[in-house]
Amino acid sequence: MCGIVGYLGPEPAYPILIDGLKRLEYRGYDSSGVATVEPGGEMSVHKRQGKVANLEAHIGAGVPQGTVGIGHTRWATHGPPSDRNAHPHLGGNGKIAVIHNGIIENYEALKELLTHRGHDLTSDTDTEVLAHFIDEVHRSTGLDLPDAVRVALKEVVGAYAIVVLDESQPDRLIAARKSSPLVVGIGENNAFYVGSDATPIVGYTKNVIYLEDEEVATMGRDGSLTIRTIADAVVTPEVHEIEMEIASLEKAGFDHFMLKEIFEQPKSIRDSIRGRIRLQSGEVMMSGIDDHWAKWEQAERILILGCGTSWHAGLVAEYLFESFARIPVEVEYASEFRYRKPVIRDTDVVLAISQSGETADTLAAIRLAKEHGAHIFGVCNVVGSSIARESDAGAYTHAGPEIGVASTKAFTAQVAVLTTMAMHLGKRLGKLNDQAFMRLMTGLDNIPDLVQQVLDNASAVEHIAAQFAQAENALYLGRGYQFPVALEGALKLKEISYIHAEGYPAAEMKHGPIALIDENMPVIFIATQDDVYEKVVSNIQEVKARGGQILAIINDGDTKVRALADHVLEVPKVHEALSPLLTSVPMQLLSYHIALMRGCNVDQPRNLAKSVTVE
Ligand code: G6P
Repeated sequence: MCGIVGYLGPEPAYPILIDGLKRLEYRGYDSSGVATVEPGGEMSVHKRQGKVANLEAHIGAGVPQGTVGIGHTRWATHGPPSDRNAHPHLGGNGKIAVIHNGIIENYEALKELLTHRGHDLTSDTDTEVLAHFIDEVHRSTGLDLPDAVRVALKEVVGAYAIVVLDESQPDRLIAARKSSPLVVGIGENNAFYVGSDATPIVGYTKNVIYLEDEEVATMGRDGSLTIRTIADAVVTPEVHEIEMEIASLEKAGFDHFMLKEIFEQPKSIRDSIRGRIRLQSGEVMMSGIDDHWAKWEQAERILILGCGTSWHAGLVAEYLFESFARIPVEVEYASEFRYRKPVIRDTDVVLAISQSGETADTLAAIRLAKEHGAHIFGVCNVVGSSIARESDAGAYTHAGPEIGVASTKAFTAQVAVLTTMAMHLGKRLGKLNDQAFMRLMTGLDNIPDLVQQVLDNASAVEHIAAQFAQAENALYLGRGYQFPVALEGALKLKEISYIHAEGYPAAEMKHGPIALIDENMPVIFIATQDDVYEKVVSNIQEVKARGGQILAIINDGDTKVRALADHVLEVPKVHEALSPLLTSVPMQLLSYHIALMRGCNVDQPRNLAKSVTVE
């Protein structure tokens, strides 16, 4: 979704802003813009619909020279993508520029008030309303701009991360947030950087402050930084060191981030279990669980919340936790859960799964669960993210930055962490015997090498992808642990290739999707040799009888399904609970190659955002 970058310091701002906007492209956007205060003292604003490259082309050789500026990538909410609706938006007769992530819910009421007072608004956005409203408060109260921002934000309902640039005060930058993340980077020579996440900052400094809700930061060219809440309480900033390396934000020779991230999985899975599974002592170490053991011991239910791919990881976890730890599990879309008067008890453990740790619905859902006394455990990838910080305890997935919009390595890292958690709980609760535990432990330890084996055969997927590249629909079927993998496979395909795809439990096929099957329908079965293998074989027969084109993901050496399917892709045979870590990999590769063959933008699919920070 929208991205924010800001700079105040001794260097020209524009190259830093453009570099930041390019780093933010991964979040998904439809237009971009920059504003600087130029050496002559005038505000300079450039914005363009489309890619950052369009903005650069529009600006051409006459690049801004100012040493303070703000930049934004917009993902449309209020008003279609256009030059006019792109940020920054201006208030105060063009003297105040604002960039904004989030949604101002009461913008219509504010707009009416502003129009009444003679403000002339030219875009469809809630952000322009905010820019004018800040100016209105500034002028009508005579307050200094940081105070005017504070007072204006008190009247705002909704979510915001904003940066405000003032033509008359080019020696300062003002930033504020509520329910939408904002990071302030502290650089050398009194420089300040602002980002909606760390990606536009990390190339310049590792020292950051995560603004909290309802905080307003004022940065000065003399290196001063003041943070106040909108209620005017002074906040002492806490500086954190980020570990992210700039190299992890590059493609490292791969054509796309998605492909790089697929191939990183042996490492990312290894990193997600490193230090947690101890083969020699035969135990799992997980302080996030152990430090709050009473909560898990008394847990009557595990409630798993997430969205998108993270929700799919939650579905895998449902099988894992119920099987190993024998605790009842419910997996909920965070967006549905939070709006349906859910029954939440203080004996519930809520597991929030989120790659970004910023998904608005997941964040709101954990806040709701917290109010009802549930224990919140976050499984996040982004260190220092809102969900990670608001959870009572948690486990980072350590997959490293994921830039491709379609989640790949974050999913397998989530599943690996969830597997480790379920094993640990099963053992501590006495539901998993030592033998079963050790078998899982050695199996999990071996998974990164087996994922590498699957990746070594990636060219086989490319060949099969060619057979399906022109399809209009696809059906993904699996049972048991492979049902969530089927859902995730279908999601990957539709996200990046725009082929309509559905994931279904294989047995449910007879209750509807079977009607869709004809000789043009690709049906992808995940048919590993587990408890439900024979049932899946029957389902394959049923599809074959109706002429569907079958691609089956099978275990090495499975001749039965090989004889039935039109195409097969093999993965090594492992414990069924560990198999999603392998079967999801050919699914990712299949989607990648199909999308590529269809000429789609793999890393930045249309309309999608990497991190959905608005409801
Ligand atoms: C967006 C992304 C998905 C992701 C989902 C949940 O839709 O495009 O890849 O699975 O949000 O995001 P989260 O960061 O909470 O895992």
